[in-house]
Amino acid sequence: MKIWLVGMYGIVASTAITGAMAIQKGLVDKTGVVTSMEEFKEIEKYVPFSFQFGGHEIRLLEGTSYDAALYHWKELRHYPREILDSVKEDLKKIKAKKGTALNCGSGIDEFGKISTLEQEGLKLSEIVERVVEDLRKFKDEDTVVINVASTEPVAKYSEEYHGSLEGFERMIDEDKREYITASMIYAYAALKLGIPYGNFTPSAGSSIPALKELAIKNNVPHAGNDGKTGETLVKTTLAPMFSYRKLKVLGWMSYNILGDYDGMVLNHQDNKESKVISKDSTLEKTLGYSPYTITDIKFFPSLYDNKIAFDFIHFQGFLGRKMKMYFTWDGIDAILAAPLVLDIARLLLFAKKKGVKGVVKEMAFFFKSPMETDVMNTHLQYSNLVSWFKSLA
Ligand SMILES: NC(=O)c1ccc[n+]([C@@H]2O[C@H](COP(=O)([O-])OP(=O)(O)OC[C@H]3O[C@@H](n4cnc5c(N)ncnc54)[C@H](O)[C@@H]3O)[C@@H](O)[C@H]2O)c1
Repeated sequence: MKIWLVGMYGIVASTAITGAMAIQKGLVDKTGVVTSMEEFKEIEKYVPFSFQFGGHEIRLLEGTSYDAALYHWKELRHYPREILDSVKEDLKKIKAKKGTALNCGSGIDEFGKISTLEQEGLKLSEIVERVVEDLRKFKDEDTVVINVASTEPVAKYSEEYHGSLEGFERMIDEDKREYITASMIYAYAALKLGIPYGNFTPSAGSSIPALKELAIKNNVPHAGNDGKTGETLVKTTLAPMFSYRKLKVLGWMSYNILGDYDGMVLNHQDNKESKVISKDSTLEKTLGYSPYTITDIKFFPSLYDNKIAFDFIHFQGFLGRKMKMYFTWDGIDAILAAPLVLDIARLLLFAKKKGVKGVVKEMAFFFKSPMETDVMNTHLQYSNLVSWFKSLA
């Protein structure tokens, strides 16, 4: 299959590409790849583990996927160097196309020099057309778009322009660019061309009514938002335990520190807001009530992609006794996220082949803020995913 990655030179994207190539060459096994488990073995019949990549970027456009992977590797050394060396020639052939960064917030100013379609003085309709053209040239019947670009600020919702497909297309024609964000443009382009779309970020992407309408109209499956890879994965796996034992969670503090570009962008209040909303809402939905919460994300440069979360849980048991639990999650973000990018792409293509259209709620397992479902409990999400897959395979 072909995967088009928005944010192709980021660390999640470049680790996904490097890992996929290394697995294809038989250099490493599929540890971390959910769809390689026994439960999903039938997927090989529909979507074999074989990938080609393309994507959009706004940085380093003179470089290749190898330059991006090498840059991240030098900062983090998150896998053995031999893996990168052995896929070097494959990665050098992968080059990103220039994307758009419309309304992506102040966080991306941290990148220094960026190159975008809007800098060419294009009208909104021309920007959209360029993105559509890039995808049209790349796509085949087995293509999926995944958004792994930097987190955008919460989009300014407009019922007039986001509430229906007609309004959305009018917004493009009338050049009302203040109402659109880059992630909506990429999602629109994918769905318009009948390409399944997965949103690994908390950005709006395909989650506005207009684009949900387009997905149904064009018979395309889509899923998101925001990959569930670290602290939230633990939270939504652990929180049900308190419910199963009728223990009352009084308060839950989550303090996250991380480095790299993701951390730098999230250090900006406007960009951070979408992430905090995405992380916070999971607890209320998992427990069925809202304990007191503190959620924060802070930039800690030297950690680079090593994300550390400190969680403190205050809970109440029999006879009103209060007790405490603490945990520390110490994960390498890209290592956790990269295989899920491949999983989401494979399952979306599988869904398309099975005639599924619109939001694939059963893929909630992969996301912090899954669309159109309140099922946040990881155990239930996993069982829903397996049942859905088996019912179609
Ligand atoms: N475990 C995880 O790493 C994890 C989990 C959940 C969500 N995410 C989300 O995935 C995204 C990527 O994370 P990352 O660690 O790879 O970040 P990163 O900063 O390394 O990569 C993001 C890339 O997107 C590019 N970009 C930014 N705006 C763009 C645009 N409008 N069009 C095209 N490219 C654009 C940047 O130049 C950069 O190369 C972030 O939004 C992050 O919040 C990551």
